[in-house]
Amino acid sequence: MAQETLTITDNRTQQTYTLPIDKGTVRAMDLRQIKTSPEDFGLMTYDPAFMNTASCRSNITFIDGDRGILRYRGYPIEVLAEQCTFLEVAYLILFGDLPNEVELKTWVKEITHHTMLHESTKKFMEHFRYDAHPMAMLVSTVAALSTIYPEARDIHDPDNRLLQIKRLIGKMPSIAAMSYRHSLGFPYVYPDNDLNYSENFMNMLWKMVEPKYVANSVLARALDILFILHADHEQNCSANVMRSVGSAQADPYLTTAAAAGALSGPLHGGANEEVLKMLDEIGSKENVPAYIKRTKEGHGKLMGFGHRIYKNYDPRATIIKWTAEQVFKVTGRNPKLDIALELERIALEDDYFIKRKLYPNVDFYSGIIYQAMGFKPEMFTVLFAIPRTVGWLAQWQEMLADTDQKIARPRQIYTGHEVREFLPMGKRAPVAATAG
Ligand code: ACO
Repeated sequence: MAQETLTITDNRTQQTYTLPIDKGTVRAMDLRQIKTSPEDFGLMTYDPAFMNTASCRSNITFIDGDRGILRYRGYPIEVLAEQCTFLEVAYLILFGDLPNEVELKTWVKEITHHTMLHESTKKFMEHFRYDAHPMAMLVSTVAALSTIYPEARDIHDPDNRLLQIKRLIGKMPSIAAMSYRHSLGFPYVYPDNDLNYSENFMNMLWKMVEPKYVANSVLARALDILFILHADHEQNCSANVMRSVGSAQADPYLTTAAAAGALSGPLHGGANEEVLKMLDEIGSKENVPAYIKRTKEGHGKLMGFGHRIYKNYDPRATIIKWTAEQVFKVTGRNPKLDIALELERIALEDDYFIKRKLYPNVDFYSGIIYQAMGFKPEMFTVLFAIPRTVGWLAQWQEMLADTDQKIARPRQIYTGHEVREFLPMGKRAPVAATAG
């Protein structure tokens, strides 16, 4: 049988080293022994943007990007989206197995009883500017929960951690809904414990003067499916932030706020908002070829296309397309869908996109559904953050329990000046200060 080792010859010294290979990976620290002299620091790897570095072991989410496979704890995403509720999947992701009937009932009850926000959180939110971006309000408010629950700092107590996890999952839709209503100038709506997770979210978003909000069951189920699809995605940019900030042992509110900040970026969760802006800019099906030509000439990207991991198709995009059809039966067809379908059709036949393996990702169709349901594009990333909180917290828990982990602290290759002579004020030449 072939040996699971790697033999390296350092041509600077002619020394040979044999390193173990475990699960197709060598340990970067094993390279440190490769030195040109005893004073030499030892060999490092250079991997900006983590293109080829596993930062952890994880048993939460499996992705095979070449075959378009996504599984949570071993269950295919397609099965979970069809058979489960979001809170059932949240339980699976956090605790490793699907709950039985009693466990699920208890879990749902506990999350439901953590949906209320402390009145000072509500007051805090009232002071955001009327036109503040909902994602910025969400990030700031999640961080501010740390002021309400100072005991969350004790991250070494598993029961305390679990309490904060329940609070975060319960309160995320309430904060999201308040940020939405704040931007419209509407009064905040309190949670209704008779409703399920998605229905209650819809209640807090859209209830006006009716005594009891009744959610459309097709839309509530669609929202639940979208939440399931967005719940975790292994070591993406925001999960990496969650683990990195969490590794410094910051409390879970501040850590989740940091992860949500990463999610807000247009290259990550913020892409769904950008897709809608792009479809607006394209305007009609006829303009699609010209827009694609522009993209190929290097003027911007097709938002909602491409993925670091999926190089075949994003399985979530397929489920979202199916969900869109169900939603449109209730809301009527979003005319943007025709532009999106045309964009996808042309792009998938185009050499530029084929060669680079650029396919629609989760964000390409989700915004079209959200808009049909009545959400403004600024809310789209907030809708992503609600379910992704579950994934962040599962990644956080796993990181804390992993004895291989320490505070995340990468190395650098220093490219700056050697030591320089200090110049007093009068001898300094003007600096051409630029933002870069
Ligand atoms: N439109 C046009 N060209 C693209 C696109 C796109 N959406 N995405 C990548 N490319 C091109 C790049 O210009 C590059 O071309 P080159 O080889 O000629 O230089 C090539 O494809 C490879 O792209 P990279 O940027 O190296 O790929 P990377 O893995 O670093 O980026 C990312 C992945 C960030 C998702 C990228 O595809 C992108 O910016 N897409 C648009 C934003 C988006 O939809 N993000 C959401 C991702 S899903 C999520 O985070 C939930």
